[in-house]
Amino acid sequence: MRRPLVMGNWKLNGSKASVEKLLAELNAATQGINTVDIAVCPPALYIGQAEQLLANSAIALGAQNIDVNRQGAFTGELAADMLTEFSVKYVLVGHSERRAMHHENDDVVARKFEAVKEAGLVPVLCVGETQTERHNGETKDVIGHQLHAVIKRCGRNSFDNAVVAYEPVWAIGSGQAASPVDAQKVHEFIRAQVAAQSKDSAAALPILYGGSVKAANAKALFSMDDVDGALVGGASLDADEFTNIIKAAC
Ligand code: 13P
Repeated sequence: MRRPLVMGNWKLNGSKASVEKLLAELNAATQGINTVDIAVCPPALYIGQAEQLLANSAIALGAQNIDVNRQGAFTGELAADMLTEFSVKYVLVGHSERRAMHHENDDVVARKFEAVKEAGLVPVLCVGETQTERHNGETKDVIGHQLHAVIKRCGRNSFDNAVVAYEPVWAIGSGQAASPVDAQKVHEFIRAQVAAQSKDSAAALPILYGGSVKAANAKALFSMDDVDGALVGGASLDADEFTNIIKAAC
């Protein structure tokens, strides 16, 4: 049995005051929960503040993005190695918002995945199809390409000490999550793709579902064999709602 992981992706939301309030509430509300791994991904600017607020907490820290480069003349960018100075454990790579709005193709995403691993952090590879791709029956093709770009760059054992998040683009922020059965089908496909490279890494790999996860639908999603937790957007900004999602994974 894989240990569940519930992560909050705060996206471009927050202020010093809201970070302090949300993390104080989450610290209090998640006391005593020790069967689920929990992480939050604040905007990069608040990672230092979050590190201090989470100093005595079981809640881990994640980052939403990094650059492919480790250092140099890359104005505005952030390197994976820098995150290691702030107790960051996870880094999201290939979120659909970055793929779509920042033109990150599979190759760039694979390079980011590699950079995260080289820094000794845990990459969370986000994969998922658009509404059109889904209607055209291309879901497996798209996700297969997204996974294989990483395998091509980082090898058979790419997914050792990594996480995959299946986030159908049509489900993100739409209020319409994938059904548990549909999510399970894709998660099973992802695990099979990884198993074809390495059975051991496939067996250990946490595959999270993301896209309109709420307290009300979390338990049904988590009851599926290959759904090992969630990557939560909007609902992770509300301490009660996020805590109830975490509790659904206990
Ligand atoms: P929502 O939970 O707001 O749909 O966002 C999901 C997501 O994109 C998490 O990375």
